[in-house]
Amino acid sequence: MAKKFIEDLVKEMTLEEKLGQMTQLSPEFLGIDPTMDLTGPMNEFNVQPQWLDKIGSTLNGYGARQLRAIQEKNMKESRLHIPILFMGDVVFGYRTGFPIPLAMGCSFNPDNYEKASHIAAKESAASGLHLTFAPMTDLVRDPRWGRVMESTGEDAWLNCQMTKAAVHGFQGDDFKEKGRIAACVKHFAGYGAPWGGRDYNMVDISEGVLREYYLPAYKAAVDAHVAMVMTSFNPVNRIPSSANQWLLRDILRKEWGFEGPVISDYASVDETISHGVARDGAEAAQKCIQAGVDIEMMSTNYLSYVSQLLEEGRLDISLIDEAVTRILELKDALGLFENPYKDASEEDEAALHRCSQHLQAAYDIAVGCPVLLKNQGVLPLGPEVKTIGLAGPFAGCEKTEADESLYLSLKRRLPYANIITAMTEPLGSLQRGIKDVEDQVQAAAEALKDCDVIIAAVGECGEDFGEAASKTCLRLSPNQERLLWALKQTGRPVVMIVHSGRPMEIYPVMDCADGIIQGWHLGCEEGIALADILTGKVNPSGRLTMSIPYNVGQIPVHYNAFNTGRPTQGKDERYISRYLDCPNEALFAFGYGLTYSRFEYSAFETQVLECEGCCPDETVVARAGITVKNVSDRTGTEVVQLYIRDIAAQVVRPVKELRGFNRVELAPGEFRTITFDITREMLAYWNNDGEFVFEPGEFDLMIGSSSADVETARVTIGQSR
Ligand code: BGC
Repeated sequence: MAKKFIEDLVKEMTLEEKLGQMTQLSPEFLGIDPTMDLTGPMNEFNVQPQWLDKIGSTLNGYGARQLRAIQEKNMKESRLHIPILFMGDVVFGYRTGFPIPLAMGCSFNPDNYEKASHIAAKESAASGLHLTFAPMTDLVRDPRWGRVMESTGEDAWLNCQMTKAAVHGFQGDDFKEKGRIAACVKHFAGYGAPWGGRDYNMVDISEGVLREYYLPAYKAAVDAHVAMVMTSFNPVNRIPSSANQWLLRDILRKEWGFEGPVISDYASVDETISHGVARDGAEAAQKCIQAGVDIEMMSTNYLSYVSQLLEEGRLDISLIDEAVTRILELKDALGLFENPYKDASEEDEAALHRCSQHLQAAYDIAVGCPVLLKNQGVLPLGPEVKTIGLAGPFAGCEKTEADESLYLSLKRRLPYANIITAMTEPLGSLQRGIKDVEDQVQAAAEALKDCDVIIAAVGECGEDFGEAASKTCLRLSPNQERLLWALKQTGRPVVMIVHSGRPMEIYPVMDCADGIIQGWHLGCEEGIALADILTGKVNPSGRLTMSIPYNVGQIPVHYNAFNTGRPTQGKDERYISRYLDCPNEALFAFGYGLTYSRFEYSAFETQVLECEGCCPDETVVARAGITVKNVSDRTGTEVVQLYIRDIAAQVVRPVKELRGFNRVELAPGEFRTITFDITREMLAYWNNDGEFVFEPGEFDLMIGSSSADVETARVTIGQSR
C-alpha cells in the first residue's frame, strides 16, 4: 500500500503529469547544460515544450551547482512541485577513479567493491546525484563484446557476491542517508550474451542456462533491496527485454517480488520498432507499459501516445497509476519530498572529491586487482635493477594530469634507478597499426638494449572497449606486437603489462615476455599500484574472473562448460569434442593468478552431514576443509577456491562450478585451515520441470588455486548409504 500522500498526489495528477514522471530526458532538454555524456543515438524526438516542467528524472547530468539549479527551477515552476530524480552512470568511481568492474572481480574481494561503491556514492551524491545506473551484473563469456569490462566476470556465483556488495556500497542500509545513493541493477536480462559478441545483438538462451547463469546476479541485487532495475537492449528469446512480460512481470515481480520501478535502457522503448515487435510508437508504448517498464529513457512514446492508447481502450489507466506510484515511492524513499536537493553541495564536492582518504582507498583497492600471469624469475624487480627501460603507450601518457603515470610512479619508488623511455606515444593511428613504425620500433629497441629490465606497457585504450566497442580481433595492435618482438630481440628480460578492458589474445606474444601482468585499467592510482607490484612492495593477489583465450576461434571459452558425450580423456583421439588446432581449455583459466609467494595445499578432507532430503535449502549438507601453507619467504595472499560438480542429474551439468572462495593472507611458514560449508542450495540446479532442485547423489568437491588446478574428492550427499 502506497502512503496516503502519494495516493493523493497520483489522484491529483493530470495524465500528462503522470507520463512526465514516466519519462527520462537528459538535462539539456530542461534548458540547462551540465557536463553530459550521452551514449545513445541522437534521435530527434518530438519533445513538446509543455512537457518540460513535468519530466520526472534526468540522466547523466552532474554537478551540485547545475543540478541544484535544475531542481530549483522545477520546484518553482512545476504545478505539483514533484522533485526531479537525478540519475547517472557511476560505474568505476566518480571523481576518484577505481578499477573497472572486471578488474574488481579479479580481486575476489567483495568488501573492496563495496568500499569503492560507497566512496562513489558519497562523491556523486555531493554532486547532486540520487541514483546510479550500477551495478552492471551481466554475466560475460565473450571478450569480443566491449562491455565485459563493466561486469565482474564469467561466474554467476562470484558475480552474485560482487553485486550484493556493490548494491550495499551504494545504498547502505537506507539510501536516504547522507552519502548514499540508490542503485539500479542492469541490464535485465542477458545483455552479456549477444550473438557474436556484437553489442545490442540477439540473445537466445535456454531457460535452464538463463536461470542458472544469467539471472542469479540480478536476483542477488533484488534480494539486496536494489532500488531500481534497468532493462537490456537485447531480445531474450526473441522478445526485446523492454517488451518482455515474462521477464519483467512473471520473473522480476511475481517470482522475485521486486517492487521498485523498472527503467528502459537508452531509447529501448523506441527500439522495439526497429526490432520489429512494434509497428509504431503507440504500439511500442503499449507493449512496454504492459510488460512493466515504468520509465522510458530518452524517447517519448509514453508522452506522445498513451492518451490515445487509453482512449482506444488499448491500455488500462491502472497500469499508469501503478508505474507513477512506484516512481513517487522511490522519490519518497530518497527523502526528496522533504529535501529535493538531497546531498548536493559545492562545499562537499570540494571536500570529498579525490580527497586523500578516497585516493588511499583507490590505491588499496587497485593493488588487489592486477593478475600476474607469467613470471620467469623476473619479478619483483630487485635492488640490482638500476636501469629500467619503459616502452609502450601506457607508460605515461594516457593518464590525466592529476593521475600519476607509471613512469613517474616508478621514479618515485626507485629514485636511484635510471628510467629510459621509448615509444611511449599514446594509442592512436601510430599504435593501432595504421602507420608503419618499423623505424621507431628499431630505435626503441636500440635505446633500451642495455637496460637491466624492460617494461612494456601495452594494451587497448578507452575507446577500444566499453559500449559499442565490439571487436573480432583481440590481439594487440600490429605495432605493439612488433615493438614486443623487437624488445625481445634485445635479449634483456621483458615484463609486459596488458592494460585492457577485456581478455586479449596475448598468446602470439607470450614468448616475448619473461613476466606478464594483466593490469586491466585500474583508475587514478594505477601507476603507483603497478609500480608497487613491479618492485615487490605489494605481492600480486588478483585472480582471473574471465578466461583468457588462446584465440578468438575458441570463444566462448569459460571454465564452467558443460560436459559432452565425447569429452577429451587426455588421449590423442580423433572423434572427440575438441579443436584440431587448439586446446579446449583457455590459455589462462578462471581463478588463475600467480603471486611472489608459494603455497602448499594439504590433502583435503570432506565430511558429509546426515540429510535425508528433508532439510531446508540453507542447511549445510557437507563440509570440505584444506590446510594451506605459505612455503616461501614472502607474505602473500592465496585465493582458495571451492568448485563442485554434480555427477548425474536429469540434465547435463557443468564440469565445475565455483561455490566458495577464501582470500587468505599468510606470512612465511604460516598455515591456515579453510573450511567450506556446502548447502543444498549450492548443489541445486534448474530442472526440466522449471524449478531449482537439489537431488541427492554423487558430487565431486574440488579445492584448489584456480579452476584449472584443483584436488577432487567424490562424496555422496543426501542419500542413506
Ligand atoms: C547504456 C546503459 C546506461 C545508459 C545511460 C545506455 O546506452 O547501455 O548502461 O546506463 O546508456 O547512460
